[in-house]
Amino acid sequence: MEPYKIKVVESIAFTTREERERAMRDAGYNLFNVPAALVTIDLLTDSGTGAMSDRQWAGMMQGDESYAQARSFFSLEAVVRRVTGYRHVLPAHQGRAAENVLFSTILRPGDRVPSNIHFDTTRANVEHNRGVAVDCVKDVAYDPLADVPFKGDLDVAKLDRVVAEVGKERIPLVMMTITNNSGGGQPVSLENARAVSAWCRRLGIPFFLDACRFAENAYFNKVRDPACAGLSIEQIARAFFDLADGCTMSAKKDGLVNIGGFVACNDAEWAGRLANALILMEGFLTYGGLAGRDLEAMARGLEEVLDERYLAHRVGQVRRLGERLLAAGVPILLPVGGHAVYLDARRFLPHLPQTAYPAQALTCALYIEGGVRAVEIGGLMFGTVDEATGTAHWPELELVRLAIPRRVYTDDHLAYVADVCAKLYRERETVRGLRIVKRPAVLPHFTARLEPLA
Ligand code: F0G
Repeated sequence: MEPYKIKVVESIAFTTREERERAMRDAGYNLFNVPAALVTIDLLTDSGTGAMSDRQWAGMMQGDESYAQARSFFSLEAVVRRVTGYRHVLPAHQGRAAENVLFSTILRPGDRVPSNIHFDTTRANVEHNRGVAVDCVKDVAYDPLADVPFKGDLDVAKLDRVVAEVGKERIPLVMMTITNNSGGGQPVSLENARAVSAWCRRLGIPFFLDACRFAENAYFNKVRDPACAGLSIEQIARAFFDLADGCTMSAKKDGLVNIGGFVACNDAEWAGRLANALILMEGFLTYGGLAGRDLEAMARGLEEVLDERYLAHRVGQVRRLGERLLAAGVPILLPVGGHAVYLDARRFLPHLPQTAYPAQALTCALYIEGGVRAVEIGGLMFGTVDEATGTAHWPELELVRLAIPRRVYTDDHLAYVADVCAKLYRERETVRGLRIVKRPAVLPHFTARLEPLA
């Protein structure tokens, strides 16, 4: 059960099917355009959508809003140093800002940055700074039915290939995303982190974690790796951080806050350069684009997330949603990840070809059926058209991510979500495909407009 009780509640919207159909038309069949006030259960993202504790809200009141050397910064610095062990802590307003501070400082044009799978903003920040983001996850990550415990693991042989191609001088750092969001929220094993760390140290290449969901990752290690069973979450998390030289973090996930992030590292020379970039892009070193109260809430969130009872409930809640869906025969990606369940739209809607955007069609159908908002991770997000030849490139997978906000929904809410999915699955032949009527040049999934096929 939840290791907390509810002190404040927020009403959610109940809408009629007609209202939802109208909202969907008005939104151009794109859930990013639907007003949140018309969404009953919002599973668009687990980022910045969590509920803070009374302790965090108390910290908001006590935040120190001094421009320089605010007390709240030192609260954050102390917690980040304790949890990660890293000396230098630079706050940023969210994960992608931390990434930009890092990559704009250390990348040279043409550099390669390997990771298991880069999250979109990490890839975009690498590429914006004229580097090349290389995904090096083990091949098993791309098999939606392979039920393996650490599907986020990085393939060291793929790192060797990057070195063979460009030389180690062109690799300013190796990243590792824990958990691996773009690969289904799958954990990375401590053993794999050790292997990657040893590889990096042998070649003298810095190793960084994208630590957004570091506590969920530590929990998976505790329950899936017998060698970690006797360790606390804090000890397992620290073992990961000790293997790396620094991290970027979006605290909007495992920091249990609505806004915030940081970059942290051990190397003083890097920290000095990052500090210059931070002041330019985010603000002074002790607030980094945040209010003092946000720093205080983040410090407290980073402590709370280490509570094993919280993590057991959190990861268990996501797993129970997955189990309900499996029991109803709904095709999902296996195993269930730490922060989300992914519906496999190819198997859910086999009558729709990829050109009819099955994952987006399913996302729209879920909203119309039950007011549930999910996010498409398929042809709309990743499909590209080669301007010169006119040929389209489609991604391997057509997924719909049901991302679960932290401490927000109860199991009853998620049972409702499972019922909506199951009903739709029984009536799957009625779901029509979509076509794009307006496709913007960059990040099309955010603003594209679509319409149902006849
Ligand atoms: N890295 C990972 C692994 C992420 O999942 C995200 C955000 C970021 C970096 C960027 O952090 O949003 O604070 O700038 N993921 C959200 C999601 C948006 O929905 O998965 P941010």
